[in-house]
Amino acid sequence: MAQNEKITIKVCMGSSCYARGNAANLEFIENFIKEHHLEANMEIFGGRCENRCAEGPNVIINGEVCKFASKENLEKVLNKYVTQQV
Ligand code: FES
Repeated sequence: MAQNEKITIKVCMGSSCYARGNAANLEFIENFIKEHHLEANMEIFGGRCENRCAEGPNVIINGEVCKFASKENLEKVLNKYVTQQV
């Protein structure tokens, strides 16, 4: 990962995604960032509904849509970025 390159994490805050797991996913991601000291490398923000509710909750990490987001699959994706930071 390049030094100045920030990983963007957009958590859908639309009512469907939020109610179906993104409230907890947001907390999980924030804790993950803190635990791994990634504040300088990752930027997290809320997004609006993008009409993908049926596949939600959705989290978009660097443009890649993580469908049916859960702590388990988010952890896998986020860990990929942690291991890239050598
Ligand atoms: S509420 Fe997240 S895509 Fe619709």
